[in-house]
Order: sequence, then C-alpha cells, then structure tokens
Amino acid sequence: MTKLQLALIGTGGTIAGAASAASVSTDYKPASLSLAAVVDTVPELRQRYDIEVSQPLQLASYDVRPEHWLDLHAAVMQAVHNPQVAGIVVTHGTDTLEETATFLHLSVDTHKPIVVVGAMRPATAYSADGPANLLDACSVAACPGAQGRGTLVVMNGRIHSGLWVAKRHVSSVEAFDSPLAGAVGEVADQSVQWFRAAGRAPTVAWKTPSTWPRVDIAVAYAGVDETALRAFVAAGAQGIVHAGLGNANTPTAYRAFIQSLPAQGVLVARCARFITGSVTRASVYADAQHGILTAGPLPPHKVRIVMLLGLAHGMDGPAIQSWIDQILLAG
Ligand code: SIN
Repeated sequence: MTKLQLALIGTGGTIAGAASAASVSTDYKPASLSLAAVVDTVPELRQRYDIEVSQPLQLASYDVRPEHWLDLHAAVMQAVHNPQVAGIVVTHGTDTLEETATFLHLSVDTHKPIVVVGAMRPATAYSADGPANLLDACSVAACPGAQGRGTLVVMNGRIHSGLWVAKRHVSSVEAFDSPLAGAVGEVADQSVQWFRAAGRAPTVAWKTPSTWPRVDIAVAYAGVDETALRAFVAAGAQGIVHAGLGNANTPTAYRAFIQSLPAQGVLVARCARFITGSVTRASVYADAQHGILTAGPLPPHKVRIVMLLGLAHGMDGPAIQSWIDQILLAG
C-alpha cells in the first residue's frame, strides 16, 4: 500500500533534549538529538508514513530569533511545493513555539496542513511526552480535515490554531491552551476530532525580507514611566507593542508619550499585558485619532509578529490595522 508522505522539519527543543538521567525532567539540554534520531524512537512513524526528515535548525527555542524563521520558512515552502508531500510537521521547543506557529500561520499560504509540535519533557525522561506528541502531530498532518486550517499546534492530544495557542504552564505536559478561542480539535492515536469548520486568517503576501524591522514590547505596570519606551525609540524601533493594563491603559503621562510616537514615525499597537479579552478601539487612548493600532484579543508577542511581518512587507499603519481586523474576523 502506498504510504502518505509527510515532511518532518526539525528545529531542536526539548522534544530533542537529553538529561543526565531518566528521572530528570527539568534540568537538561534541549536540541541534543537530531530529529532523525527522535524519529527512530517511534517505529510506527515509518510504518505508517513515508517520512522525509530535514533539519534546518538545531537549537533551544529560547534562542530562536526572527532570522531563524527565514530558514524555517524556506524549509516549509520546499515541502509545500513538493507535490508528493501531503502534510508538514515542525518539531520545536515549547518556549517560543507559539511565536513560530503564529509566524508560519500568518506567512505560509497553503492548503496543506502544517503542524508544530514539541514536548515538555526531554527525550531521555521516563515521562517523555515527545514520542506520543510526534505521533499525534503526524496523525493530524495526514488528516484531510486538517487542510485549510493554516498552521496548527498539537500538544498532549489537543489541536490548537497556531494563532491562538499559548504556553500556560512552565512544566506540566498539559501546558498549552488557546485562551478564549479554545482548542480546534483533539487527537487520540490516529483518531482526529474537529470542533469547528476549517478556515484560517489571511497571510501576508510573503517576500523573504532582507532584514527585519525592530519591534519591541513595552509592558505597563503600576508606576511605569517612559524609560523603556525612550530606550526602544533610541535603539531604532520602528514599532512598539504597548502591552497595557486592563483595556490597555497606562498612567496619563505615559499615555501622552505613546500617543506622540506615531507622529514621530514609530508605529504603536495597543493590547493587554497578561490577561485575556479584546482591547477596544474606543477608549481614552483615542487610537484612531493618534494613528495607534488596536490589537483586540491578540497577546503582545503575537501582535509583535503581525507588526514585524507587516512592516517587513512595506505595510503602513492603516494597512496593518486592516490586516489585524481581517485576522480577527477569520477567528
Ligand atoms: C525550548 O523551548 O527549546 C526549551 C523548552 C522546551 O522545549 O520545552
């Protein structure tokens, strides 16, 4: 019987991590094993699928930078353009997994399933979750129902949209959740269950950027002043994500400084710091009047990716706001 071909793309992380003993699950070195070696620990993978392995990156995901996303994007596009490949699985560290998943979700325009997967426990641990997660990710990537959903994340039997997924626990295997949005499906063995119809946010019209713009995140807190904002501007920030209190508020003087930034050529987007909920455009910030973007329920680190992609593709503030609105409409 002909087996479905899956492209497995390795980037490192805990799923490829090794500790000094099997009883150790938090003190280990991520990205110690090649993806090919990890695949070899799960014999069912090659029994079920025709597996093509590539390894454009090998690092802990806390070391991932936007420059690495360009190498990953190129590897993913190679698999997208290969007519033999039915689905794509990217193995990744969990610390910035949701950032890479958001980047791929908003930059790779394909009907083929792309599934990002990681593990909370190193490959050497008694309780390693990587093998089961990898098998689940392949089940999802091979599932026709995964088509047209953009980039998905599979962790601990749950399927999440790459856009909404968030790491919510530092060590539990049940670390990932999609606040407000919820999981889009579940996977158990080879059985995949979807909770909502396929659909996805519109992507940027991708052209590989020669450089990334600088976009920083300024987090507000009681008594915050403009020191960090001024430092970001001095460092050449083209965009600043303002992660505010409540409905993205701040002390009054800080607000006036933020409101002055777009006129100085620094794009600002407002979103909430650590809480969920949709930040509204109508507020004391008067976003429309000051040319400030409103990011609704998107968290700061994901708003930053939208701004990075938008600015790198020559979009101005209104164009990025319109893209954010379309992304939120798609849900
Ligand atoms: C990393 O993000 O590479 C380390 C942590 C993890 O993968 O769980």
